[in-house]
Amino acid sequence: MPNRSSMPSPRQDAPASVLHITDTHLFAKRDGRLLGMNTYDSLTAVLADAAQSAPDAALATGDLAQDGAAEAYAHLTEALAAFAAACAAPPPVYWLPGNHDAPPVMRAALVKPPLRPEREAIIGNWQVILLDSTVPGEVGGRLSDAELARLDASLAAQADRPALVCLHHNPVSVNAQWMDSIGLANADAFFETLDRWASVRAVLWGHVHQEIDIERRGVRLMASPSTCIQFRPQTAQFGIDQRAPGYRRLWLYPDGRLETRVFRVESFAGRADAEATGY
Ligand SMILES: [Fe+2]
Repeated sequence: MPNRSSMPSPRQDAPASVLHITDTHLFAKRDGRLLGMNTYDSLTAVLADAAQSAPDAALATGDLAQDGAAEAYAHLTEALAAFAAACAAPPPVYWLPGNHDAPPVMRAALVKPPLRPEREAIIGNWQVILLDSTVPGEVGGRLSDAELARLDASLAAQADRPALVCLHHNPVSVNAQWMDSIGLANADAFFETLDRWASVRAVLWGHVHQEIDIERRGVRLMASPSTCIQFRPQTAQFGIDQRAPGYRRLWLYPDGRLETRVFRVESFAGRADAEATGY
């Protein structure tokens, strides 16, 4: 029998594996369709694919319901419970609201495992902070003074850990006029806060239904595809992209390094109506 000193120890430099899903746009009716696509079916196809990677945690960055209905969040809970059961170890799922959500309804509905109520978490050696950028009745986003203060205080409290900051709205231009006009209105104040902390390594958002991966002052800025319909990138007017539903995986190394990759679920046959002029 091996003695303790010869037992393999967990690798100190192993990354935490994190799943990012966003913009699930579920309806009160499970067979609800967004521009022709059944969003519950596309979500479950995405989660079945993602479960194979057995993530340590998952992040869901808003527009989780299309209609803000309690039933939509019940469907989300059910889909995520099945996903967690399919993973080797059930990962906690942290979430934040988007402009299509109804935050009070969400808070009351998203309470069962694997969903978690916390607005920040330690995942591996990283600090993950989830912000609410929604403005009641508006499509575009803004971070309140209270939310900016919470961000600053959270970063101050864990300044030794690499940090990943999540929100729904795009804090930078995505070179698409219609999407830039509904992004984060006070992005300057957001980046002013981030710039105070060298621990910030990455920002992650949804809303734009496409993959973005750029860098600003050494901080990785990323958006991920929706689990349902995709928006055509780099275009002045709204347009549908026929690419498949998708998700992102991130590997967060203890020393602050990050690796990431977007996956598309090509086997899911549903696509949005290519002629749609809005949603
Ligand atoms: Fe969305």
